[in-house]
Amino acid sequence: GVEVVINGSSSPAVVDRSNESIKHNIQPASAKWKHNQTLSLRIRKQILKFLDAEKDISVLKGTLKPGDIIHYIFDRDSTMNVSQNLYELLPRTSPLKNKHFRTCAIVGNSGVLLNSGCGQEIDTHSFVIRCNLAPVQEYARDVGLKTDLVTMNPSVIQRAFEDLVNATWREKLLQRLHSLNGSILWIPAFTARGGKERVEWVNELILKHRVNVRTAYPSLRLLHAVRGYWLTNRVHIKRPTTGLLMYTLATRFCNQIYLYGFWPFPLDQNQNPVKYHYYDSLKYGYTSQASPHTMPLEFKALKSLHEQGALKLTVGQCD
Ligand code: CTP
Repeated sequence: GVEVVINGSSSPAVVDRSNESIKHNIQPASAKWKHNQTLSLRIRKQILKFLDAEKDISVLKGTLKPGDIIHYIFDRDSTMNVSQNLYELLPRTSPLKNKHFRTCAIVGNSGVLLNSGCGQEIDTHSFVIRCNLAPVQEYARDVGLKTDLVTMNPSVIQRAFEDLVNATWREKLLQRLHSLNGSILWIPAFTARGGKERVEWVNELILKHRVNVRTAYPSLRLLHAVRGYWLTNRVHIKRPTTGLLMYTLATRFCNQIYLYGFWPFPLDQNQNPVKYHYYDSLKYGYTSQASPHTMPLEFKALKSLHEQGALKLTVGQCD
């Protein structure tokens, strides 16, 4: 399986030794897990050679102006113009500038969270990261409420908000954005051309209704840098998922990292069915050729880091 190598500071942190079938069980058991500070620091240092979360978390105002042309990261032939609205919403300084947290939670969207009772535990962390505007209110017992940063792929507007076809859906999105209440809204606006209008709609809504969020738009080099780091460590991901991006960024400013809702498998450890998302009826798609993600491979790497104490994965119930 994937293995963390801890001998010598220049050696890769994660090595994929074989392609043996994935053993899903998480060891050591939750109660025995112990944080490995030395390894965490080593990983932070290694990742810093590829990217700097403080900088790469967002493009800053000073570096772009309205009208500038940007090539999409995964559609190099397609371009977008930096709109006035986008420019307005670019942060002046990094939302993570000089930030350090004792513990961080990264909440993935797997259905494994349902009936986990992890809400309270998640909310005790100093900094809580969530993905793709996943709903919390109705699931608070299992996922918690605290949100310091939430990501929003443009496709979320289509999947969860019906492309804002009418006033009802626009209102729904607006309410969700208002509920963020000052947290960071992280929008990968430059990844693929498909999101162009959707990003613009959201930007417009935020400005028009003076929504209290701190917008951030990841740097143009972030994806390649993250991919580069993992490739160097022999984790051959095609395109890092949001969850893996968040872990990679979090190593910079979090001392201890706790992962919840990472479980890209249709059955849990007791062979019970697990929904792909805890909040909708989306089906497992990553196994199809079309999907750019290699989630089980990512999971294997994260599991290995869990076993070494560099992060803690929770895939069952919280006490
Ligand atoms: N995730 C997981 N297991 C699942 C679903 C999600 O481990 N069954 C993790 C993945 O790291 C994923 C993150 O939780 O990136 C957020 O989930 P989701 O919103 O579903 O992300 P994706 O649909 O994969 O979108 P993206 O392309 O942004 O990664």
